[in-house]
Amino acid sequence: MSHVMNTYARQPVAFVRGEGVWLWDEAGKKYLDALAGIAVNTLGYAHPRFSKAINDRVKSGVVPTSTLFRIPDQEAAADRVAEITGLDEVFFCNSGLEATEAAIKVARKYGHDKGIAEPAIIVMEKAFHGRSLATLSATGSRKVQAGFEPLVQGFVRVPLNDLDAVRQIAERNRSIAAVMIEPIQGEGGINVSRLEYLRDLKKVCDEAGWLFISDEVQCGMGRSGKWFIYQHAGFQPDVVALAKGLASGVPVGACVVGNRAKGVFKPGNHGSTFGGNPLAMTAVITTIDTIKEEGLMANSTRVGEIILSSLKSQIGNQVADIRGMGLMIGVELKEPCGELVEHALDAGLVINVTADNVIRMLPPLIMSEAEGRQVVERLVPLVKAFLDKRAAA
Ligand SMILES: Cc1ncc(COP(=O)(O)O)c(C=O)c1O
Repeated sequence: MSHVMNTYARQPVAFVRGEGVWLWDEAGKKYLDALAGIAVNTLGYAHPRFSKAINDRVKSGVVPTSTLFRIPDQEAAADRVAEITGLDEVFFCNSGLEATEAAIKVARKYGHDKGIAEPAIIVMEKAFHGRSLATLSATGSRKVQAGFEPLVQGFVRVPLNDLDAVRQIAERNRSIAAVMIEPIQGEGGINVSRLEYLRDLKKVCDEAGWLFISDEVQCGMGRSGKWFIYQHAGFQPDVVALAKGLASGVPVGACVVGNRAKGVFKPGNHGSTFGGNPLAMTAVITTIDTIKEEGLMANSTRVGEIILSSLKSQIGNQVADIRGMGLMIGVELKEPCGELVEHALDAGLVINVTADNVIRMLPPLIMSEAEGRQVVERLVPLVKAFLDKRAAA
C-alpha cells in the first residue's frame, strides 16, 4: 500500500520521460500531452533553454538562500512580471492558492485602510481559487467546501457574466472592497467571460472604488494568445494572481498589484520562506523570455484555432458546446464523461475532464500545428465512440 495520502483519484499511469509535447510511461508507451499538467508545462518537456537555465542555477550552488538578503534573480523576474502584467509590485509565492490568498489579504487590507470594518469580496459561482480555508471559501463549489466548515466569512457570490447582480450589490452593500474573478473559469468547465462584461465589471469597480482582482492562475501566461485575459478586454486590473504556467513546471505563484492596490502591503504584512527563491526565479525568467522570443502567444492563437475549428466541424453538432480561447479549450458533453480520460490514455492522449462533463485541453504552448491536428485526430473517434455507446444504452 502506498503511503501517499489519498487526496486524488489518480490514473494508474506514471510518466517517466518527456520531450516537447510528448510523454513516455514506465512501459515505454508514448503519449501526446494536451494537458501540460493542467496548464503548468508552458514550454513542454526538456526544452533545451529551460533545462540549461535550471541546470546552471543548480550548479551555481545558490538555490534557495534566504528572503533576508537581496535576490537579484527575484528582482529580474519581478521586472519581467511587472512588464507583462502592466502592474507595479510582485509578491512571489509557491502556488496558485498562495497567490489568491495574498490577493484576498490585499483586498481586506485595502478595505480596512478605507475604513471598512469587515471588508467583503464579490466572487463568482463555479469559480475555483484554491484549497486553503480562505481560498476554498472564495471558491464557488460545494464539493470543494464540504467538510471544512466553518468557512471564512466575507465573500458574496454572484453568477458569472451577470452584471446586474453586481450592480445590485453595489447599491446596497457598503462593505465590498473588491471583485475577484477567473476571467476564464478552468476547473468550473472552461467558462469564458464575455469581454464586454469584463469591461463593464471594471467600470463598476472604478465607480465604487473596489479592487478588480483577476485570478489568471490557469488562463494567464500567454495561453489565450495574449499574456492575460484582461488585455483582450483592454484594461488593467488592480491585482493579478498567477501560478501554474508562470515557471513551466517549477512551483511558483505571484500576487501582482498596481493601480488602486499599489502600496497596500507594507513590510511585515506578508511573507513566504521559499517565495521568490533563485531556482524558481530562474524558471520564471526563462519561461517569460522564451514565450516572447519563440512567439508562443501567436502560436497559441494559431494552434488553438486549428483545434477549436476542427473539433467544431467534426463533432460540433453532437456535443453541447465547444469553447475556449487560444490553447484553453473545453468540449462540453450532454452527460458526465469522466471515463474519456482513461480511453484517451489508452489511445495515447492526455486530456482531462472537469465539472463532470467538460473535456478540458490545456496543451504546452509549444505545440505545433501538426501536433494540434493529431490531438483532434485522437480525440474525435473517442468522443464519437462514447456518444454511440450512450445512444445504444
Ligand atoms: C484559477 C485558479 N486559481 C487558483 C488555483 C489554485 O492553484 P494551486 O493548485 O497551485 O494552489 C487554481 C488551481 O487549479 C486555479 O485554476
